[in-house]
Amino acid sequence: MKNFLSVDDISNINELVQKALAFKTDPLSDKGQGSGKRIGLLFLNPSMRTRLSTQIAASNLGMESIVFNVGQDGWSLEFDDEAIMSGTTVEHVKEAAPILGKYFDVLGVRTFPGLKDREADYSEFFIKQFVKYSGIPIISLESATLHPLQSLTDIITITETFQEKRRPKIVLTWAPHVKALPQCVANSFAQWVNAWGEADFVITHPEGYELDKKFTGNAAISYDQDYALKEADFVYVKNWSSYTNYGTVLSTDTRWMLNNEKLATTNNAKVMHCLPVRRNVELSGEILDGANSIVTQQAGNRVWAAQAVLSEILNG
Ligand code: CP
Repeated sequence: MKNFLSVDDISNINELVQKALAFKTDPLSDKGQGSGKRIGLLFLNPSMRTRLSTQIAASNLGMESIVFNVGQDGWSLEFDDEAIMSGTTVEHVKEAAPILGKYFDVLGVRTFPGLKDREADYSEFFIKQFVKYSGIPIISLESATLHPLQSLTDIITITETFQEKRRPKIVLTWAPHVKALPQCVANSFAQWVNAWGEADFVITHPEGYELDKKFTGNAAISYDQDYALKEADFVYVKNWSSYTNYGTVLSTDTRWMLNNEKLATTNNAKVMHCLPVRRNVELSGEILDGANSIVTQQAGNRVWAAQAVLSEILNG
């Protein structure tokens, strides 16, 4: 694998899932693979799970990792090719990225969308600048529109949890939130479930929250959450801001928050969320504290997803 920016960088999802699950069983089985190698983890935005799980994954492979919080630990970066840098940015990515390429063997990068200019965000300009100028493999730690390490984790978690000899029904449901959040997790989850092709997939959200068709593909879309949840085996809860009315909060309707009454209409569904989650806003405390929540199992699997991807990157 050359870079890990989306599901398009994967040739066989199930093979990668099995590799991750093998690492879960025996974390240090390839301890020598990353010996003498170093990964830089660049964060332009905050993180807990992605940062720590990737560091643990690197350590399990014998690889050194160094975290760099851009803008806090170092100079604020400029990305505009034509910039006259008389403002707040101090260093251009054209200088910074090739230097990082000399310090590291692999670079993980987290950027978020501005949620103001859809075309700019969906061009994935920031992470592509690192691909263009660093000269080393880039792993997305979440970009403007996608979160592939999270989505791989999600497929791993579904695979290890669902043991029946039939296709699971997976429902991705929009949930209310007080802030405008990116579409990354929802876009990426839809893209991966579609590429995986081993589930019946339904997306439910209020009108106006349609995601980009290029990610949702042929998934069934419903504005009726009660209808969508019926007989679900997995419910993936996530807020996102509007894609069509870009970056805006169109609804804070609390009736969309999953609770035990709604869960009772499912096939005893397992409930997933990428975290962090706002309790009793985006997802009810009774669900998070209940037996059907697998959010901590899911977050734990971030290590094995990162380890499998890092191992593939090291294999070239
Ligand atoms: N799910 C996720 O990416 O969590 P962090 O933002 O804490 O990394």
